[in-house]
Amino acid sequence: MRTALVAGNWKMNGSTDFINELMNDLTANINASNVDVLVCPPAVYLSQVKTLTGSTVSLGAQTVSEQANGAFTGEISLTMLQDLGCEYVILGHSERRSLYAETDALVADKFIATVASGLKPILCVGETLEEREQGKTIEVVGRQLKAVVDAAGIDKFADAVIAYEPVWAIGTGKTATPAQAQDVHAEIRAIIAEYDTAAAAATRIVYGGSVNASNAAELFANEDVDGGLVGGASLKANDFIAICHAAGA
Ligand code: 13P
Repeated sequence: MRTALVAGNWKMNGSTDFINELMNDLTANINASNVDVLVCPPAVYLSQVKTLTGSTVSLGAQTVSEQANGAFTGEISLTMLQDLGCEYVILGHSERRSLYAETDALVADKFIATVASGLKPILCVGETLEEREQGKTIEVVGRQLKAVVDAAGIDKFADAVIAYEPVWAIGTGKTATPAQAQDVHAEIRAIIAEYDTAAAAATRIVYGGSVNASNAAELFANEDVDGGLVGGASLKANDFIAICHAAGA
């Protein structure tokens, strides 16, 4: 039985006052003992959010350096994230891949470093609209996933979460239908099963891309959809709370 996970990816949004209000609303309304709920604020606000998470909300980061420490201006290390109380790190988000040139190989390096540190990776995969229209969805998602499994080893996936985020659904209001999400999630699970059937059964695969309060329940009802990675709607307390409740919190 896989525990559902709902993660809010705040991206580059928020301020001290906004975060105080949002976190107060979330912790007052989420009783998430049976669902893992986490928020991923911009790194500069991790310390603030940690003081506000209470017992029901966990903390995640949006990216991390693959390097341990040293002369890497602007970067943030896994040790620092741990120091601030992070449990999860989003890796290979499509915005990191497309805007900051993160390659499959770099994502794999970050994954390996993250697992070695004890933090839990949330590995993002997903196809563009053009790739979907060319019938390449599984090829692309499979390539992104296998690049990491082959480099890290399937035994490193014990605490990993995979997020299927079709690029065409991110921030567009166009959500994958429940059937489209279920199809790709099942394919992802089948790819993991090629390596290890127990890992395939245990690994959480969450969906991201225009998840909102209205569509969350029908997405999460699918057998292979174990929760969501939520962008825009995670910045609205009522919407994020409703999405967490749709996952069973
Ligand atoms: P939206 O929910 O805003 O589409 O963003 C999804 C996402 O990129 C989460 O990581």
